[in-house]
Amino acid sequence: MQPDLIIRGANLPDGREGVDIVVADGLVQAVGPRIPAEGREEIDAHGLLVTPPFVDAHFHMDATLSLGIPRLNRSGTLLEGIQLWGELKRVLTVEAVVERALAYCDIAVAQGIQAIRSHVDVCDDRLTGVHGLLEVKRRVAPYLTLQLVAFPQDGLYRSPGARENLRRALDMGVDLVGGIPHFERTMEDGRRSVVELCELAAERGLMVDMHCDETDDPLSRHIETLAAETRRLGLEGRVAGSHCTSMHSMDNYYASKLLPLIREADVAIIANPLINITIQGRHDTYPKRRGMTRVPELWAEGVPVAFGHDCVMDPWYSLGSGDMLEVAHMAVHVGLLTSQEAMRRCFDSVTSVPAAILGLDGYGLEPGCRADMVVLDARDPVEAIRLKAARLQVLRAGKVIAQSPPRRAELRLPGRPSAVALRRG
Ligand code: FE2
Repeated sequence: MQPDLIIRGANLPDGREGVDIVVADGLVQAVGPRIPAEGREEIDAHGLLVTPPFVDAHFHMDATLSLGIPRLNRSGTLLEGIQLWGELKRVLTVEAVVERALAYCDIAVAQGIQAIRSHVDVCDDRLTGVHGLLEVKRRVAPYLTLQLVAFPQDGLYRSPGARENLRRALDMGVDLVGGIPHFERTMEDGRRSVVELCELAAERGLMVDMHCDETDDPLSRHIETLAAETRRLGLEGRVAGSHCTSMHSMDNYYASKLLPLIREADVAIIANPLINITIQGRHDTYPKRRGMTRVPELWAEGVPVAFGHDCVMDPWYSLGSGDMLEVAHMAVHVGLLTSQEAMRRCFDSVTSVPAAILGLDGYGLEPGCRADMVVLDARDPVEAIRLKAARLQVLRAGKVIAQSPPRRAELRLPGRPSAVALRRG
């Protein structure tokens, strides 16, 4: 049978070069050098990196693209962002959530993202965000996997009705249990919220992804309870701690005890470098802490670490463009992750690692995987991060669903070439 598509001469994220990828019936059929077959269509990817799609492990799609409604965040702090989101929530409609989220999904797909785990605020008796994002999840399903986390933004105990609303959201089809223990009024309330939410997840057979210790307070140690509860309830491999920025400020001795517990519990950590480099350290004079969790130490311990985008043009962050290479680029800088190996791992933290955390079926470039992939205007993952490379083609099940031209500029300079590409060679 003639294959539907063959991508010729691709470089892969694992370092293989000059590989052909054969696609039929929406699946990868074969991967190898110079495969003697002729596809109905062929894409010449000689010297270009072909990767499975980007996966955003942490996002807030109910708030995205709402920048300036009803006003801008003046201080730039997390707390003013939460307050501002509270003002916006009061006037939010399902239609507006759906319209903005679909617009963001268009941008995300154009940037090669094909799976997003989005938290959705349940501290609103109307559950506007839940209604909106469940509709969006259904509508984008053919081209984008959307996982939703029931997120009590204003605190499980701090916000009246949140406990009941969170359960209602799960009943309506929201996929995961979320939480925000550091935002409860006391450490004890935070600890209790982690216990209750993990028990709820165990009861319902759901995964957990909790905003955990998004603070510079080194004594914010809810990740410890999250890992311990994961083990107690047998939730290993189904739990993620998001942000975990207090780990940046923790005492090294305590961290040396904490990291093995996280690994033993098989808890994944999701850092959000774009947001936490702007939100953390706000109470510091100088030096100002960077506020990203301890990525290299987690890697050394064998803990899976993904990077999320978290916010795009919303009450917390005015910037962002759905570009997971920008996220990885920021992680490289904030975490001093500049060795070649560390930069390659940062690429994995926006592709294969979050795919595993989300439990995506058929992800990858091995035979039998769904033929979802992105052809990048870069030779390898390091160049892709350096240039935030153009997504030349984005394919879903072997069909091109988005494409962009390579980034080139015409030059009008005496004695110089008439055009320049951002890539070297
Ligand atoms: Fe978040």
